[in-house]
Amino acid sequence: MKGIILVGGLGTRLDPMTRVINKHLLPVGLFPMVYYPLHSLVDAGIRDIMIVTGGNNPGEFLELLHDGSEFGLDHLYFTYQQQPLGIADALRATEHFVAGDRCVVVLGDNILAGSIRPCVQRYEQQAQGARILLVEVPDPERFGVPEFDEQGKIVRVIEKPSEPPSEYAAIGVYMYDELVWEILPTLELSDRGQYEITDVQNAYLQRNLLEYDTLDFGWSDAGTPESLFRATVMMHDSDFLPELKPRN
Ligand code: G1P
Repeated sequence: MKGIILVGGLGTRLDPMTRVINKHLLPVGLFPMVYYPLHSLVDAGIRDIMIVTGGNNPGEFLELLHDGSEFGLDHLYFTYQQQPLGIADALRATEHFVAGDRCVVVLGDNILAGSIRPCVQRYEQQAQGARILLVEVPDPERFGVPEFDEQGKIVRVIEKPSEPPSEYAAIGVYMYDELVWEILPTLELSDRGQYEITDVQNAYLQRNLLEYDTLDFGWSDAGTPESLFRATVMMHDSDFLPELKPRN
């Protein structure tokens, strides 16, 4: 299983904080934002991890993370998204790295207060297809939102719906098999000028190949002033990475 962290994008919703600093290097609790998705993957037992940079100051990820040894890794892989054309576009840059393997993709602004290890283990048992993670939220219209049938099966995922069909957000953790490389070239640009990751989920759904888990622990994105604040409060007093905590 390969791990991918996406830290491109312009972070415009956090302007002016992101005018100079890459969004994923802003502080959340005691650590730079990117530490959290990296820890989520390492904690899930994934050792081969690629960081897809882009936006402003992409080189600073290398300066910060070096070879990943602070996280117990032997090596970290980096690549670069040429244009900010969305999450699904950034994923294309990792095809040669993932090769014939499966991957767990984590958006660099997704902060999880618990472990995704059980979900990754269930995906390892899943014969084929994709797996996404859902969390109940008060503001689903900000996210990709699943619509369920009576049996609780997802029938489609809608990106930022004005009338959400459920109270769940499809969070930025996605597990894909090799079918994703066939799906990505078929996507079309959305109205906001992006290749949407939600369209990848729907392509898997059309083939009846999308499974999900519902998380029962804290999660927040950190891409807006309000959610960055929420993520900071959520992680500040947690026992996240005690071995890396700065000493006084
Ligand atoms: C992205 C995805 C959305 C998902 C969210 C999770 O939204 O497009 O489906 O729910 O991440 O953080 P964005 O942050 O690009 O608006």
